[in-house]
Amino acid sequence: MNTQGQAVLLLACFGVDAEPWARAFATLAPDVDLRGADAPGPPDEIDYVLAWNVPAGGLRAYARLKAVFSLGAGVDGLVGRPDLGETPVVRMVDESLAQGMVEYVLMSVLRHHRDAALYARQQARKLWIPHRPPLAQDRVVGVLGLGELGGPCASALAGIGFQVRGWARTPRSLPGVEVFWGAAGLSRLLQGCEILVCLLPLTPDTAGLLDADLFARLPRGACVINVGRGAHLVEADLLAALDSGQVAGATLDVFDREPLAADHPFWTHPSVVVTPHASAFTHPESAAAKVVADIRRIEASRTPTHLVDRSRGY
Ligand code: GLV
Repeated sequence: MNTQGQAVLLLACFGVDAEPWARAFATLAPDVDLRGADAPGPPDEIDYVLAWNVPAGGLRAYARLKAVFSLGAGVDGLVGRPDLGETPVVRMVDESLAQGMVEYVLMSVLRHHRDAALYARQQARKLWIPHRPPLAQDRVVGVLGLGELGGPCASALAGIGFQVRGWARTPRSLPGVEVFWGAAGLSRLLQGCEILVCLLPLTPDTAGLLDADLFARLPRGACVINVGRGAHLVEADLLAALDSGQVAGATLDVFDREPLAADHPFWTHPSVVVTPHASAFTHPESAAAKVVADIRRIEASRTPTHLVDRSRGY
């Protein structure tokens, strides 16, 4: 709190343009004192942080934080940080992110479903060879993770006719989606699943899930889309599965090391589509309102809407 008794919010967003966020907060909450990471003022005055890609140790100085808000949906960069201790972490849940992810997942699934890479190769050789794809209703698409992003993606895929299977930690029902859970459920989901989308939160339980063992349980020639986190994927296992033909194609938006190194084989692999962690963006115009509403809740001694459950890790 500043000397006038106002709540203080620090924008510690690295690698994103903080300016539109500052404008949105200034409009929505003129009573909140906004600070930039370059001039945070006395650390003990900071009540809240909106955080993204904060370097290790970068939050240690702020000992009186009431909450840290993640600018993105994934909170793996905040949960368990020694410089945050027990500070409550709030996930970003915003329609702009979900909409962006639905668009990206539909685009990627349809690229695989409709052989976009094959036609690009044919065009380069001026080859006129049509290939009849199966109908969406005859194609099984699996979505790992049915949360705030996976749920809308699974529903949208079902909406355009795919046979959609979803995998969640716990049983749930989602219209048009056959839901599986647990280890046995994953095996059943993978059987006959020709296009697999990973939208899981990154936790110790889900790290490395996309590995040789999982690829072997997909039908030969399946496609993999990773929009979760790079650490979900064992990169060497994917390269081996692509080389053997077990996996026919992959669309990857997230990587173990970002930016992807210039000499990484994914860049030039003929069966891999690389995008630079750009599947979905949080738009300040809508998302800042969520943060402000939660600040108001916390100031009124209420619980913020999407508080991270540390035992689950998201
Ligand atoms: C992006 O990676 C996000 O977590 O929103």
